Amino acid sequence: MLIALVSAKGSPGVTTSALAIASQWHRPALVLDADPFGGDVRAGLGAGEWPSHAGLAELVVDLRTGPVEQSLHRRVHRPAGHCPPVIAGFGCVGQASSVPWSRLAPELARLDGGDVIVDCGRFVAVDGVVGLLRVADLVLLVSGSTLRAARSASRVAPLLREGLDAGVGDPRVSLLVVRAGEPYSAQEIADGCALPLLGALPDDPRAAEVWSDGTRPARSFPRSALQREARRLASLAARLDPTWSAA
Ligand SMILES: Nc1ncnc2c1ncn2[C@@H]1O[C@H](COP(=O)(O)OP(=O)(O)OP(=O)(O)O)[C@@H](O)[C@H]1O
Ligand SMILES: [Mg+2]
Repeated sequence: MLIALVSAKGSPGVTTSALAIASQWHRPALVLDADPFGGDVRAGLGAGEWPSHAGLAELVVDLRTGPVEQSLHRRVHRPAGHCPPVIAGFGCVGQASSVPWSRLAPELARLDGGDVIVDCGRFVAVDGVVGLLRVADLVLLVSGSTLRAARSASRVAPLLREGLDAGVGDPRVSLLVVRAGEPYSAQEIADGCALPLLGALPDDPRAAEVWSDGTRPARSFPRSALQREARRLASLAARLDPTWSAA
């Protein structure tokens, strides 16, 4: 299954949500950092320590000589036991648009025995990672709950539906709200975007920093509000897998 997380504007928590959900996935899942504005995991989750071979640029080079599946295990890095395997993003803005997504994305969507959760950063209508969004089994628009955030999300939602050829209500394009209630509820934002609501992740700065900034998790981290809700959302998202009933 290929799941893409994307934001409309601001920094609502795409990277944090992608990592939290992947860490709670029911089977092996890797996170691919494809943020077109430059990847964050080397400096964030990796706190500046990241092997140079474990990146999307290196994966793209491998594509010249072999299938994606062969290259993936060489290109992932797990910075610590609580982390999912991750492929870091680009160091330069715009490089994500040079990736041959039309070849890479379908192969990622059909991996045997594993799923891929992609941090697509802020949505860019032209270039960006549109080629990947088109073949994703699930695109999650991540939004905060302020008026500004809700407005931006409602502008991007129709573009995403159009890109995926998804009608109103099609769960392939769904909403994930981070820190609902500032002041809008997750459902109010979903209604404004005309998107099905997958769910919401709570305001949990301590747990979020583990993913966004690579801080050491406290002993209570696995029981944190963020991780518990990420687990619930992971199981809801997994049900949208087109092969779910066969799994
Ligand atoms: N559920 C949450 N509760 C509290 N803080 C959060 C939550 N999710 C993310 N944050 C915090 O919000 C900030 C931005 O998070 P993150 O980097 O994941 O956002 P982003 O949407 O990926 O941003 P960008 O577009 O810049 O890549 C970080 O400081 C992170 O710790
Ligand atoms: Mg990010």
